[in-house]
Amino acid sequence: MNAPTSIAVGAKPAADPSSDPSLSLFQLLDPAVHADPYPFYASLRERSPVHWDPFMSTWVVTRYEDVLTVLQTFSADRTPDEKQMTALGLPKLGPVADMMSRQMLFLDPPAHTRLKKLCYAAFTPRRVDAMASKVKAIAKDLLDRLAPKGEMDLIADFAEPFPALVAAGLLGVPLEDHRQLKAWSASFAEMLGNFQHNPDRIRGVLRTVAEMQDYFRAAIRDQEKNPRDGLIRALMLAEVDGERLAEEEVIANTIVTMVGGQETTTNLIGNGLLTLIRQPDVLADLRAHPEIMETAIEELLRFESPSQHTARIAKADTTIGGKLIKQGAAVMAVMAAGNRDPERFDDPDTLDLRRQDNRHLAFGWSTHFCFGAPLARMEARTAYAMLLERIDDIALATDEATLEWRPNSGLRGLVGLPIRYRPSGA
Ligand code: HEM
Repeated sequence: MNAPTSIAVGAKPAADPSSDPSLSLFQLLDPAVHADPYPFYASLRERSPVHWDPFMSTWVVTRYEDVLTVLQTFSADRTPDEKQMTALGLPKLGPVADMMSRQMLFLDPPAHTRLKKLCYAAFTPRRVDAMASKVKAIAKDLLDRLAPKGEMDLIADFAEPFPALVAAGLLGVPLEDHRQLKAWSASFAEMLGNFQHNPDRIRGVLRTVAEMQDYFRAAIRDQEKNPRDGLIRALMLAEVDGERLAEEEVIANTIVTMVGGQETTTNLIGNGLLTLIRQPDVLADLRAHPEIMETAIEELLRFESPSQHTARIAKADTTIGGKLIKQGAAVMAVMAAGNRDPERFDDPDTLDLRRQDNRHLAFGWSTHFCFGAPLARMEARTAYAMLLERIDDIALATDEATLEWRPNSGLRGLVGLPIRYRPSGA
């Protein structure tokens, strides 16, 4: 796959949208487009809502209704097998594909139904509720140290360690391992969130997967000798209708849960706070009215979706928006574009923390709806409430133009967010 030569969004439209490089998802590799992808998504939605992208060999849907159709009816079983990997020139990624083929995210019913039922039997609402006080203690502990300093890098100092510590607590592994969990998650997410596989990264991803598998296998052995509460133990013991998870399934789904919960939550905190800093009146309103926190988090999820797109495969020939998508074709469903669709949301480019009609797509939809959404929402509410309680007069500590976004078009988030503030509260 070769990227089209850099052609800016807004270049003269070609007659056939498919041949127009300015509408290719490759545009997201341009740092300026990635920094604010919404005008690009709007031109796709307006000019070619069901778009064949020949540069990516995929269909791209950007309207809310079409994203829903794809998430509801297309196949999530998209992990290439060994033969397809070899054809892609990536034979060495076989062990990664092997593990992913056991993760719920990449399976269709009935295999998906079986796995998700067993995983839900372990990850109960009671387990999430029981995490609430731990999550609060983690946020408090971080802010006890950060608030008096008057400045921090929100990403490195708070938005990354916070969900990593929560993940360690949730799984039941030592909290001091959170840095290692974060490093593995970042490495794996770089592959998950990007539609372009970088051959130079293959060795790193293979090492990451092997290390994670060894770590969680050892955690299972340890649990057998010294049982400790946590999701790993609950997955080992989960039983529904006489079915249990095999050890490799426990490991694979522990990994998808650990990774799924980190980059996304970091992005929700980082991108969300940047959005609020850019709109000081809205930030002041949230500070003055903490009772709107719930709708505020939903709006931040809609407005700056931490997971921007996902992929599916057509199960059968399907017509969407008058375009025939052939069986077996790849489709990118751009949730972040659907979340700004004016056909679905009033004033979609306006941040309205009190928005009521807000069934956004940020957690996906139906079968693969986010497994960790209740925990993610609770983490976000806790993080924002505690940040607003402990720090005041929040401002960027750098020129906005110097902010950098990680080169990950799917899991879109900042490299760093230097802020300065006045400590407040206790
Ligand atoms: C702001 C935070 C989060 C966002 C925006 C988010 C977003 C998503 C999205 C969009 C999907 C569906 C992907 C698809 O259909 O292809 C998904 C699935 C998933 N998420 Fe999350 N997520 C978040 C937090 C979490 C947390 C905290 C966990 C774990 C505790 C988690 C675990 C998962 C898992 C395991 C799946 C796969 C579900 C399935 O395939 O049935 N996520 N998430």
